Amino acid sequence: MYTERHTVRARLATFAATLGLLAGGGALTAVTAQAAPAPPAAAPTPTAAPAVDNGLARTPQMGFNNWNSTHCRAEFNEAMVKGIADTFVSQGLKDAGYTYVNIDDCWALPQRDASGNLVPDPVRFPNGIKAVADYVHSKGLKFGIYSSAGTKTCDVQGFPGGLGHEQQDAGLWASWGVDYLKYDNCNNTGADAQQRYTAMANALKATGRPILYSICEWGENQPWNWAAKTGNSWRTTGDISDNWSSMIGIAHRNQGLAPYAGPGAWNDPDMLEVGNGGMTDTEYRTHFSLWAQMAAPLLIGSDLRSASPATLAILKNTDVIAVDQDSLGKQGTVVSGSGGLVVMSKPLADGSRSVTLTNETTSARTVSTTVEAIGIGGASSYALKDLWSKQTSTTTGTISASVPAHGTVMYRVTPGAPVPPPAGVNQLSELAWTSAINGWGPVERDRSNGEQATGDGRTLTIGGTTYAKGLGTHAASDITYHLGGTCRSLRVDVGVDDESTAGGSAVFRIYRDAALVADSGPRTASDPPTRLSADLTGGTKLRLVVTDGGDGIDYDHADWAAPTLTCGNGPAAGTHALSDLQWASAINGWGPVERDRSNAEQATDDGRTLTIGGTTYAKGLGTHAASSITYYLGGGCSTLTTSVGIDDESGGANGSAVFQIYRDAAKVADSGRLTGAEAPRALTADLSGGLEVRLVVTDSGDGINYDHADWAAPTLTCT
Ligand code: GLA
Repeated sequence: MYTERHTVRARLATFAATLGLLAGGGALTAVTAQAAPAPPAAAPTPTAAPAVDNGLARTPQMGFNNWNSTHCRAEFNEAMVKGIADTFVSQGLKDAGYTYVNIDDCWALPQRDASGNLVPDPVRFPNGIKAVADYVHSKGLKFGIYSSAGTKTCDVQGFPGGLGHEQQDAGLWASWGVDYLKYDNCNNTGADAQQRYTAMANALKATGRPILYSICEWGENQPWNWAAKTGNSWRTTGDISDNWSSMIGIAHRNQGLAPYAGPGAWNDPDMLEVGNGGMTDTEYRTHFSLWAQMAAPLLIGSDLRSASPATLAILKNTDVIAVDQDSLGKQGTVVSGSGGLVVMSKPLADGSRSVTLTNETTSARTVSTTVEAIGIGGASSYALKDLWSKQTSTTTGTISASVPAHGTVMYRVTPGAPVPPPAGVNQLSELAWTSAINGWGPVERDRSNGEQATGDGRTLTIGGTTYAKGLGTHAASDITYHLGGTCRSLRVDVGVDDESTAGGSAVFRIYRDAALVADSGPRTASDPPTRLSADLTGGTKLRLVVTDGGDGIDYDHADWAAPTLTCGNGPAAGTHALSDLQWASAINGWGPVERDRSNAEQATDDGRTLTIGGTTYAKGLGTHAASSITYYLGGGCSTLTTSVGIDDESGGANGSAVFQIYRDAAKVADSGRLTGAEAPRALTADLSGGLEVRLVVTDSGDGINYDHADWAAPTLTCT
């Protein structure tokens, strides 16, 4: 019995295990030891507007925070904050996208004033906070502040927290011109996290000032399940430290949370340590690459006033920043991660992907993947740009690099011109998609979605009906195929796979370019398959989109079953000798199917004039049982007439066969058993509306010897 690993906790454990992290992974233990999460609330999807609804952080926030470089030390003061703002401008960081200059804990005095207001520390900030905010604003930058959703902040000196003072504090900050709040979790008295963080969200909203809201409860209450409604980002882990194992451990834990991030609502794996000295530049490049690949907030945590050229070069890598800031707002996912060689893929708005090849081992290694594995395809060539070395190259499919110990090679992979599907009837699972995005694990071909690795699902099954062909997805999913204007229709059965035993609901939508051309409405795990038919005429792009049914993505194993794509035109209007048309496929018992000749079992054209019971035929198909020939009709043909029989070359009464004609899956003509002794038999088949016609010859159950089977003068009428 299949049991869905449906909690994020379990998913993260499974995920981490695939990265080989479970043994001794201290940071991970903190995740796996947590209590089971509350029932999930609605998760963000590409279509769900974040309820925080402040219009901010449509791409992950970028800026500075002093904590990682100063903690509470005295050098955290007005001069530093102003100096950082100056450096943002003078060193081009502002131009690179860094906007917020934020202060952390220890900015206030330990006591509120007589009116209950927070008081800036007069030694650190002799002119108050508003003066600093004004200075930051004068540089065209934004200013952020810090507090805790508790009675006190985190520092041992115990500065006042915001719990119970939400509106008063928010009002004060707004009056100072604060643009950003980091709201910590210390001294929270055990009060409900959602209530504490929502109280401050409401207070910020009530100020009328747009204030980016950064929730910092360290992932303790599974904020990915609720915080998108509350804030713009949420910390997913405890604090980062300036060393490799801390940084990479946090990356592992944040990597598995990709489905929950989106515009306005980001997973936050904590602030950057780049430049603080505890890692090599190679390790810092990995840190920066992974944070960008995970669409993480990029908050510089080193003292920029004394940053080295190497540090600035990392922080100002505009190609990597562009990945973080991509407007599609997708967090990258791990596509493979065995033996410390971790490949991540992030879909980008222009149809390209960024891919990180990270070598977590302690010696140089080759890290490889493929365009298929990173979720793109359908082109004959792909351009690669190395976002650190800036070198460009092309590939037909393999992506590979020698990566130093603890290093990351990061490519932007851009598909070349896509190739349209062949004319005829195609199963989508046999075509290359141009892009596939999936909620959990990869999109599966001809399997349901098992959430983790390729091929881990089962036979596609909706309401007890099984399907050999199709796509197994998990909401939220978005798959694109290039049509190039050549296709006509898609017919598909959709539904939640039966493996979702504990529920699940999903909505299936088909788009022809920007036009919605089919919509299933919400389908639940107990529904039978729903047939969707979409008119694709003239469309350049086909998109299959699955969103959750409005109740979060848990259990939403969503199947596109037997998705049948019809492309190209069928035969022209009029009457055609079938042997003059090109078949879509031909299978034959001996030798090739012959056009206008009988079947002599070996090479092409080795037969004779088609002859049945002494009657000769100039046109037709010479086959040998068992045979099956398919022609594409495209829905535009009406009838096939033909004579059938065993060719006289079989000699006397030798040979026997059955001739059958199929219009798609329906048998529309059957000759019954015919032996070599019999005269030709006439068949007429109604092909109206059929996408394909299939001519089948069986041996009639007595073996295929002598079964030289002729389709004599088969004539197709199309309108
Ligand atoms: C917590 C937070 C840190 C920092 C400190 C300040 O540890 O997670 O990011 O803000 O508090 O005391």
